[in-house]
Amino acid sequence: MNDNNKFYNIITYGCQMNEHDSEKLAGMLENMGYQATNSLDKADIILLNTCIIRENAELKVYGKLGSLKPLKEKKKDLIIGIGGCMMQHDEAVDEIYKKYQHVDLIFGTHNIHHLPDLIEEISKNRNRLVEVWDEEEGLIPDLPARRDGDYTAWVSIIQGCDNFCTYCIVPYVRGRERSRSISAIVTEVKKLVEDGVKEITLLGQNVNSYGKDLSEKENFAELLKELDKIENLFRIRFMTSHPRDFSLEIVDTISKSTKICEQFHLPVQSGSDKLLKAMNRGYTRSYYLKLIESIKEKMPEAAISTDFIVGFPGETEKDFQATLSLVKECSFDMAYTFIYSPRKGTPAARKEDQIKDNVKKERLERLMNLQNEISYLQNKKLIGTKQEIFITGESKNNSQRLEGRTRGNKLVFIDKTPDLIGRLVEVKILEAKSWTLDGKLSKIIK
Ligand code: 5AD
Ligand code: SF4
Repeated sequence: MNDNNKFYNIITYGCQMNEHDSEKLAGMLENMGYQATNSLDKADIILLNTCIIRENAELKVYGKLGSLKPLKEKKKDLIIGIGGCMMQHDEAVDEIYKKYQHVDLIFGTHNIHHLPDLIEEISKNRNRLVEVWDEEEGLIPDLPARRDGDYTAWVSIIQGCDNFCTYCIVPYVRGRERSRSISAIVTEVKKLVEDGVKEITLLGQNVNSYGKDLSEKENFAELLKELDKIENLFRIRFMTSHPRDFSLEIVDTISKSTKICEQFHLPVQSGSDKLLKAMNRGYTRSYYLKLIESIKEKMPEAAISTDFIVGFPGETEKDFQATLSLVKECSFDMAYTFIYSPRKGTPAARKEDQIKDNVKKERLERLMNLQNEISYLQNKKLIGTKQEIFITGESKNNSQRLEGRTRGNKLVFIDKTPDLIGRLVEVKILEAKSWTLDGKLSKIIK
């Protein structure tokens, strides 16, 4: 099929993995001759790539689906498809199939490479299709991705999660851990670099588990060492790390490399040993504090971010105080804070000592206020320093300014000089806000 006047729109919810899957969905649609559009009215195909991690994410999807109904009534040929993590749960599939008759296609996370065939069948027969697999069938082909940025790209290195933290639904919907081979990843990154990409972010629910299902020689530190050798690549980032599996070998590899950025996203979830145990996280508060200390010892300039869940079943004020004191001890550059959301089928959802909503909200606010202050202080420390910034484009809010990121992934704005986009520069930091920095170009590095 090759129809040049057909348009698609993809709405993505959730994490970077989903964003990256959406790039692959977009790549396949473009190969079929569809073009991207921001307008839902203009689109011939609308896809929702869903997230199931918290109830809020699901409610947004149902809201959006409802709002698409009038579009379908106006344009009978419109194809509405829904995929992603929510569709790996039978209940959501049944509900959507029954109650949202305007949805033509339901697909899962393990068969996104079938999208072209599914769309073709719907276009031909105008029937509704559901295709969700429990797991992948054999090797998944490398899919073309339509990247959002010219100079930055995501690279998936491991899918799934075997950890079964008691609150989390991811292991049930994304399946067991499956690593791609080092050679497949290196080949992909080299191709991206040939296309002009200068910065890659390696993606996985738990990148430190990378290679556990491969040969003995293939582990995360080894992968990093191989990628570090690739010429014309400026920067390597990765996320997410599990503190339990974060080896000192990895800390060492990063400290010796120039390309691997000193940015660590190490979700801690709670500062209370009792809760860490109930969450099945596999580490203690003191283990986590020591890990942070050893990273800062080797790389004093490292930027460290984390995730917290407040209101996990059984969380007392004392447990919450332990979280607040951990926040102070670690001086995180940034933290993502979430209210515990019971997910059906997970052990924590079955617990009786659930926390009341008002208590959860109040704790979230206290935690956010504290972390915001600390984030601001951390950013203020950079005033007057010179930072290596990779300039990725114009600032979204001011076309007279350019934006880029520090090695620690902080957003920095400088005055616009057109030929700096795609270059690695040195910037003197002049001003700090809670989330961004302002600076002035001091020299071009490459
Ligand atoms: N409720 C709230 N937050 C959750 N997360 C995962 N599951 C839940 C849940 N049921 C958070 C964790 C994780 C991040 C990606 O989402 O903090 O690190
Ligand atoms: Fe969920 Fe834990 Fe796996 Fe992260 S490591 S995806 S929180 S089960």
